[in-house]
Amino acid sequence: IRVAILFGGRSAEHDVSRASAANVLRSLDPDRYDATAIGITRDGRWIAVGAGNGAGTGDSALTISPDGPQLALLPGGQGRTLALGGGATGVQELPAFDVVFPVLHGPNGEDGTVQGALELSDVAYVGSRVMGSAAGMDKDVAKRLLREAGLPIVPFVVMSTTAPISYDDAAGALGSREVFVKPANMGSSVGVSKARNAEEFEAGCRLAFRFDTKILIERCVAPIREVECSVLEDAEGRVRASQLGEIVPSDKHGFYSYDAKYLDADGALLQVPANVAPAVADRIRELANKTFAVLGCEGMARIDFFLHGEQAFVNEANTLPGFTDISMYPRLWEASGLPQSELMDVLIRHALE
Ligand code: DAL
Ligand code: MG
Repeated sequence: IRVAILFGGRSAEHDVSRASAANVLRSLDPDRYDATAIGITRDGRWIAVGAGNGAGTGDSALTISPDGPQLALLPGGQGRTLALGGGATGVQELPAFDVVFPVLHGPNGEDGTVQGALELSDVAYVGSRVMGSAAGMDKDVAKRLLREAGLPIVPFVVMSTTAPISYDDAAGALGSREVFVKPANMGSSVGVSKARNAEEFEAGCRLAFRFDTKILIERCVAPIREVECSVLEDAEGRVRASQLGEIVPSDKHGFYSYDAKYLDADGALLQVPANVAPAVADRIRELANKTFAVLGCEGMARIDFFLHGEQAFVNEANTLPGFTDISMYPRLWEASGLPQSELMDVLIRHALE
């Protein structure tokens, strides 16, 4: 089976995608999959960087840096630019493949845009289609759908560039002086901050508005634990939820920020399985499956939760969750008895179904 891995992309999670793509590539069994990597530059150019899992004949784009494996976008300048813009019919220049694995995170990759392009080209691809991708990416839309379905979420208000809200009004509406400020469409905690006063709030809003024209202000529930659950749908449409994992951010970060995730090796402790009472874990798995269905996800998603005592809130859904060395999605499946190479088989079979 010829698999084209799409990686990089026009989002602030470009670097995370390169690390995720390297792990996806490495976990494709070379006896069964012939992998091609197609990088998308930060400015949106599509570049074929050659095969990499050992099955193909091209130059490998896989590099191992001290920070872990990565896919290099321009291996020695050998990448062939695929003309997708400028009126050219770029798709015809792509190497032949049977299925695309979009290992892209954030806007312009995880949000339905790439999925739409693949639909237009009648190409099979891994993961959610346009609607599930778009609904999962926009935290405002996702939370409103979840709330409408009766699923527990943390109270939030939305602010757009044209309708500002003051700190006092937001804090009043949320019943808390401590709030999180987040871009509506982003991942990996890029642009997220905690605010306890008007000054921090304004700085947080300025930061979040650098990434989106719509931002979320959320009540900061305390004390809180962060628990995650992986959901997988097979080719027959059976949906299952994994063991839970818990993220314990180190005190110096305060929450699971971008730095705590990817830049600081001691930024957070990942505990798998999470130390959660069985009844609570079952309830969270049930909420994960419901979230998957309510948002219209397909194939896979990692659903993230806040746990306050025994009360669980759905935080968000990630339709193209991280596959980096430290990422929970594949790790939770490993812990649930599904090794990563078999996880790839399920995802690809689902895509081809
Ligand atoms: N957005 C990152 C990649 C994650 O959810 O793992
Ligand atoms: Mg996310």
